[in-house]
Amino acid sequence: VRELLAHEALERSSVVANSAMNRERGLSGVNSYAKELGFEPLELLRSRLEAGRPAAWLDLCCGRGRALIQAAQALDRGGLADRVLLHGVDLVPMFDPVPAGLPSLRLEAASLFVWSAPQRYDLITCIHGLHYLGDKLELLRRALSWLEPDGCFAASFDLRSLRGADGASLDREVGRRLRAAGVRIDTRRRLVTADGPCAPELPYRYLGADAAAGPNYTGQAAVDSYYELLPVSMGSSIANRS
Ligand SMILES: C[S@@+](CC[C@H](N)C(=O)[O-])C[C@H]1O[C@@H](n2cnc3c(N)ncnc32)[C@H](O)[C@@H]1O
Repeated sequence: VRELLAHEALERSSVVANSAMNRERGLSGVNSYAKELGFEPLELLRSRLEAGRPAAWLDLCCGRGRALIQAAQALDRGGLADRVLLHGVDLVPMFDPVPAGLPSLRLEAASLFVWSAPQRYDLITCIHGLHYLGDKLELLRRALSWLEPDGCFAASFDLRSLRGADGASLDREVGRRLRAAGVRIDTRRRLVTADGPCAPELPYRYLGADAAAGPNYTGQAAVDSYYELLPVSMGSSIANRS
């Protein structure tokens, strides 16, 4: 019998509270955000700033916050640190030391089950974070609503970690619903991206998380998330939540 965990128990589980997971990705290079994303986040921020616009980057499950710290340093060196916000959120406050004089940087320890964005962002990333969350679809839905109108969203996401109550994979039907809302799914990179906010119709009730699902494509133990499809009328009221 599969034991499905609620949020608090999941966060205490050895899979999530694992100090050995890779929280070390930097901005570019071998072990980096640029490698996972297929683009340089710094270039995206720079192009906005050079066009005289503000640039706010929210990194969900930011780990040590290394990529954000490096971005803050690079923008500061280039005299572009005004009008910038680099905001990281992670359950575990294992952040790298923050050098003095980087007011654009905000690293916050919080559970994404309860955290809510205080503003909209131009770039929202979640690199290898959704693997450890319980209600992945709810975080995805909320994060997509936190984008500026021309903002960019990118998250590592293995849709095979979504399961119905009978254990069958929901990857195809959730994939269809996400694509219908304009979300792109790169199955090779296992990356979902979106340009601008969108509200996919995801009429599912979260049932709980399986922290004993075993390794996913990364080779690391990850969490499967269980859902049941809601009847049409309930689904539409859930999809309309703000
Ligand atoms: C594999 S690490 C990736 C860290 C970073 N994105 C990187 O690529 O270096 C996954 C991160 O997700 C965080 N995490 C797991 N569950 C979370 C939750 N409920 N709320 C916030 N962060 C969470 C973990 O603490 C961990 O730092």
